[in-house]
Parts: sequence; C-alpha cells; structure tokens
Amino acid sequence: MSTSTAPWWRDAVIYQVYVRSFADGNGDGVGDIAGIRSRLPYLKSLGVDAIWINPWYESPMADHGYDVADFRQIDPLFGTVAEAEQLIEEAHRHGIRVIPDIVPNHTSDRHAWFQTALAAGPGSPERERYVFRTGRGTDGAEPPNDWVSCFGGPAWTRLPDGEWYLHLFAPEQPDLNWRHPDVRAEFESILRFWFSRGVDGFRIDVAHGLIKHPELPDLPPRPEAAPDGPRQHLDHPHWDRDEVHDVYRAWRRVADEFPGDRSFVAEAWADTPERLAAYVRRDGLHTAFNFDFLMSSWDAKDLRAVIDDSLAMLGAVGAPATWVLSNHDVMRHPSRYGRRVVRRWVANEPYRPEGAVDLALGTRRARAAALLMLALPGGAYIYQGEELGLPEVEDLPESVLQDPVWERSGHTDRGRDGCRVPIPWSGRSAPYGFSPDGTTAEPWLPQPADWAEHSVAAHDGVEGSMLELYRAALRLRRGLPALGDGGLAWLDTPAGVLAFRREPEFVCVVNLSAEPYRLPGHASVLLASGPLDDGVLAPDRAAWLAT
Ligand code: GLC
Repeated sequence: MSTSTAPWWRDAVIYQVYVRSFADGNGDGVGDIAGIRSRLPYLKSLGVDAIWINPWYESPMADHGYDVADFRQIDPLFGTVAEAEQLIEEAHRHGIRVIPDIVPNHTSDRHAWFQTALAAGPGSPERERYVFRTGRGTDGAEPPNDWVSCFGGPAWTRLPDGEWYLHLFAPEQPDLNWRHPDVRAEFESILRFWFSRGVDGFRIDVAHGLIKHPELPDLPPRPEAAPDGPRQHLDHPHWDRDEVHDVYRAWRRVADEFPGDRSFVAEAWADTPERLAAYVRRDGLHTAFNFDFLMSSWDAKDLRAVIDDSLAMLGAVGAPATWVLSNHDVMRHPSRYGRRVVRRWVANEPYRPEGAVDLALGTRRARAAALLMLALPGGAYIYQGEELGLPEVEDLPESVLQDPVWERSGHTDRGRDGCRVPIPWSGRSAPYGFSPDGTTAEPWLPQPADWAEHSVAAHDGVEGSMLELYRAALRLRRGLPALGDGGLAWLDTPAGVLAFRREPEFVCVVNLSAEPYRLPGHASVLLASGPLDDGVLAPDRAAWLAT
C-alpha cells in the first residue's frame, strides 16, 4: 500500500463472499459461516484485505437474505451469532477485515415490525414505520402511484383490509419509512450491535433508495434515451434524493464512535459521478461502488472516460475510487466480455447480451481487466469465483431458478442465479468440494458438469492460471508503493490502447485494440495477463511494467 498512514479502506481489495454459494460447512448444500471459516487460509493466500459478506441475518430467504426478519440474529441456515463472532475474530487473526451487508431500505414481511403493523390495522402508528397508503380509483382498487418494483410488476401490494404497502423489490420486502424516528434509531442501534462485535464496516444495500418524496408522486416521464449524450441527474421520487445524506451523516457519527477506522461502502446507483460523490463526503460514507466501471463496454474510450470522471469527481471530495467488475447481481464478466459486441449496460435494465459467448475471448479480456482494475488508484472488489475465471452459468434449467426476478418478470428475465452457482473447490464432479466429503445434499444450484477445470485445486500453483494471476497481482499491489491510493497520468497511445503511469516507476498497459501493440520502454515486466511476444502486447492483453 502506498501510504501506510492512510486508512485501510482507501485502497483495500475486498473479496465478496456470497455466503450461500461460497463454502458449505455443514453439508446441507448451502454455504454457511462454518464454510467461510474453513476457507480463511485460502482468502489469506489470495491476498485480500477484507471480505464483504452478503446478508447473513435471519431471513425467510425470499430474496436470499435481502429480506431480513431480524438484524440481530444470524439465519440458522448460515450459523449463529457466536459463529459470526468467531469468524470475525479468526479473520482478524488472518489480517482480513469483515464487512457484513446491511439492508436499510426494507425488511422482510416476517419482521416483527411489519407483522405488528399488519395486525394494528389501517391508520395505526405501527404502520407509519413502513409506507402504507390507500389506493386510487374506485374503492381504492388501484395502487397509490405508478411506481414499479425493481423485480418487475407494481411496487405496491394490497392487503385484505384495503390498504396498500410499498415494496421497491419483492412483496416480501416492504420498504421502511425513513422519515420515522424509530427507523433511524433502530438502525443506529443495529450498527452498534455489530460494530461492538468487531465488524470493520458495512456494505449498505440500496443506499440511494431510503428516502421517498413525501407526496409519493407518479414517476416522471422517461427522457429520450441518449446513450452517448451527457448524463443528467433527474429528480426522481424514490432514488437518490438529497435528504438521504442526513441518514449517512448520522451513521458516520456512529462508526466514528468505534476505534479502528470502521467504514461504509454504499451500493448507490446515481445518475452522474457528481451525484455518486455526494455519498462520500467527509461527514458521510467512506466509499461507494463505482458501477460505471462494471457497466462500461470493453472499449478503451469508454473505460478511459469512466476512469477520468470517477477520479475527478471522487477526488474533488477527497474520497478514493473503488473498482468492480462483477457481483452477485450481474452477469459474470468473462461472459459479458466474451460477446463479439460488448454493450454498455444501462442501469435498472436487465443486461441482455447479444450472440453466443466466446469464453476464450471473455477470459482473455477478464485477465486484462483484472490487471487494469488492480492498477487503478483506490480500492477494488473481487466477486467470489472471479479469481477462478468462472463464467456465468447461462443454461440453468428453468426448474431450478430461484431468483424472485424470474417469477416477477413473468418469466422474461432469468434473473441472477447464473452468477450465484456454488464455488468449485476441488474434485472431478459436483459438488467439487463445495460441501464436505460424503454430503448427500445437492448444492442449492446445480454446478455445471465441466467445472472441474475451474476449481481452486485446478488453478492452485498452476503457472498462468487465473488464480495465480490474481495472487501475483495482489502480492505486487501490496509491495509496490505506486499502487493503491494515489493518482495516475495517461501516456500517449494509439486508439484502443490504454496506458497510464503511476509513481514511482510503474506503468500499466491494456490493449483493447485489434492490433498488437509494442510496449513502451521499461526496465522489466512485472506481470502480464498472457504471454508477451518479444515486448509486443497482443489484443485483449495487459501488462504491468517497472520503468
Ligand atoms: C441490492 C442487492 C440485491 C437485492 C436488492 C434488494 O441491489 O445487491 O441482491 O436483491 O438490493 O435488497
């Protein structure tokens, strides 16, 4: 790391553990805390600074844990609070920090507050903690407004007593009313509960959605799509409203009560980099995911624009950038990049890739993208399995799909299961070491028959494997003062080639063009995403140079 006195989160490499799919410790076919604990040595050998763990709280699992029934309990499927405490302690012993997910926009419909609100009936103070309204039209039979659920269909569900409640996601995920003091006090108390158990921070789910327009107006008309035009912030009745920052100013004060640089990362989708930067002011959150990088096409001009805009806007407020290529909500990047045309992703729309996937191409690009991401100033996120080059499983049978998106979209969007298939650790056939030997329960999603080649064991110690590329990159990143926090300077290159210098004595070159590119003068090659031909970088390759 470049500046040893800077807080850890300014340039941390954070590994995302999707707990259901990481490692199954108890043999029920579902990943759990025991599984994570058993794999801490693996994470240590990978060289990450922290893990972000998707929701592990008590939940009926309508959205795999993003529907939380009790924020102070661990779901029995995953373990217990005592095991969570052990995990935190053991991870710390390995030098790995732990960041759970927190889900403040909504609870489960099984949460005690929602159950109480249902029982208390229309007009009761208990209902004010959520967003209950009467409907429009004859007998209030129409929803209160035209908002839509992110998973498809209306964002309102009607109760037998005639009232409607708001859910921006599934009906099992009623939205909380963040204008209510109980909601604010409760979440500050939940943060303290987990901070005092040693967690190092939180990933904040749907951080941009908490505050709704007080009058709940209909959605504004959608502007004409202008994919290449300047991006504009639109005043939206439930996304990214200015008042949301008051919530995070209060959360920041809570984090600062605890020793040891506790930090937040926001899942915030903002129209412009300026709007994103507003989340990470000095009295607000620490970092935010930079989805523009993930959504960019595999195109030098596009990527460079995203990098420049992100660094400028975040730099202006003194915040570090973060970089992310994949997560549990999006198609894995070897499968995105393996398309002949890699389209720019549009927020809030399902990503529909065109044409068949060429995984050799996608993997070549994924290797180059990893070196690009890990050389950029700031922090980076690695989604479990990306270090194994896992592709999206695009052919899961419809009968096994579990993501609520599949049902709610009327079977038009297959949802996110394809990036959530359990990790292959070893062996020639399923469950590939995901569950303990002798387990009869099948993994909760089927693993492809040809995944042996992607297992950790198949990569471990194999020169040129994806895992060894990530390990080497992370090792260098730790050792080189040029990497991590700081700035960059672009070098002159032909169209399609990205090259930047970081001080001292480091250059990263990525060839996104169709032509080979002769590397600029250098003292040595530190790492390359593929074989170099006498100082020439082939298309879709990247290299780190010492100068
Ligand atoms: C976030 C999560 C996603 C979840 C949704 C609702 O976008 O990343 O997985 O379904 O919020 O909580």
